[in-house]
Amino acid sequence: MSDSTISAVHARRLWDSRGRPTVEVEITLASGASGRAIAPAGASTGSGEAVDLRDGGISFGGMDVTRAIHGVNAEIAPCLAGMDVLDQVALDEAMIALDGTPERGRLGGNAIVATSMAALHAAAAARGLPIWKHIAGDARVRMPMPEIQIFGGGAHAARRVDIQDFMIMCPAAGSFAEALDWTAEVYRHAGRLMQETDRLQGVADEGGYWPAFRSNEEALDALMLSIERAGFRPGKDVVISLDVAASELGRDGIYRLALDDSSLETDDMIDMLGRWLDAYPILSIEDPLAEDDTEGFREFTRRYGTRCQIIGDDYLVTNAARVRQAAEDRALNAVLIKPNQTGTITETRAALDAAKAAGFAAIVSARSGETEDTTISHLSVGLDAGQFKVGSFSRSERMAKWNECLRIEEALGPDATYAGWGSLSFSGASGPDGRAE
Ligand code: PGA
Ligand code: ZN
Repeated sequence: MSDSTISAVHARRLWDSRGRPTVEVEITLASGASGRAIAPAGASTGSGEAVDLRDGGISFGGMDVTRAIHGVNAEIAPCLAGMDVLDQVALDEAMIALDGTPERGRLGGNAIVATSMAALHAAAAARGLPIWKHIAGDARVRMPMPEIQIFGGGAHAARRVDIQDFMIMCPAAGSFAEALDWTAEVYRHAGRLMQETDRLQGVADEGGYWPAFRSNEEALDALMLSIERAGFRPGKDVVISLDVAASELGRDGIYRLALDDSSLETDDMIDMLGRWLDAYPILSIEDPLAEDDTEGFREFTRRYGTRCQIIGDDYLVTNAARVRQAAEDRALNAVLIKPNQTGTITETRAALDAAKAAGFAAIVSARSGETEDTTISHLSVGLDAGQFKVGSFSRSERMAKWNECLRIEEALGPDATYAGWGSLSFSGASGPDGRAE
């Protein structure tokens, strides 16, 4: 038995940032080294995602995870015991086979992703390496450009506004740390602006200010003003990124915007977003159309794919085969990477490799339900994704991820390079001087 042999796998119930039960898995090795990780949970989920196993019934609104925990302790633990934790692919494949369903419904996506991430931690511990370094091996890595929410909306704010995330990116910053410095100022000024205009009503699920706006455009205007008041040039220093999360707005080519009291067909939706692209320095849009609207995605990318990053979240669900299909269809130019959407670390890597092969940008992302777990910070650097999206600049389940990246940047020392402009894949992405004149 080598030191990296798995001797024990144990699951326990913890609580996430929405006060809902979640699964933590701890893996112990023959050497005594160990690793643990906690499953996150989405709210605006794509239909192609791995599904969490929840108990149903009355307690905790049916969200309890005792069955998922039992599955880890009774089935996954004996299956993985005796295996070498350094063989992540073998561990992940064993769990996929043990579950036996395409959507991970029997043992639960929550049980499997927590175990897969815990194995990554234990493997890094076995090698005496930080997790990002264990993942990267000898490959070159960059510090990712953060995409940070200023106003929350959509399913994360009781649909107070239609658009889910009003975010900023700082492509012109000199380092990850500087990008956070700039974001902190914009976030602070946005809070002051909300207070001055009597609209400060706390924060949404991912820590962005509660969107007390009368229209989606009003939120965009407030974002522009916050960037300017913080002393930055919109479009040059700081740019805007939106997650429309359009699968939440409609299906079958019809989109219902509650705030603007309108119902739009695919073409109208594309035209509306196009007007926003003309009026504001928006350089990234996620899920501009619903997950079933392939033709809409293709048309949107045909029109705007050279001037804007177009990200698939619900549309691609971190699935390598879907990424390859989207590349063939020319349906977008960037991929959101959420480990719990696909289920394991091995499948997460496969989706990222498919993105790179297609020339797509990649954004490692948290979920709206999170914890203090920082595995994705290490993935964003170790896999050299180029971009990282975690929610806003408040609430400790968000800040834990940003803070972990600061530690990694410090550890990289003079070798640290910031992905910045270079992380954007569309052909019109410009250099350090920015694009808007
Ligand atoms: P979710 O949202 O975690 O609630 O699915 C995040 C996103 O849409 O990017
Ligand atoms: Zn999304």
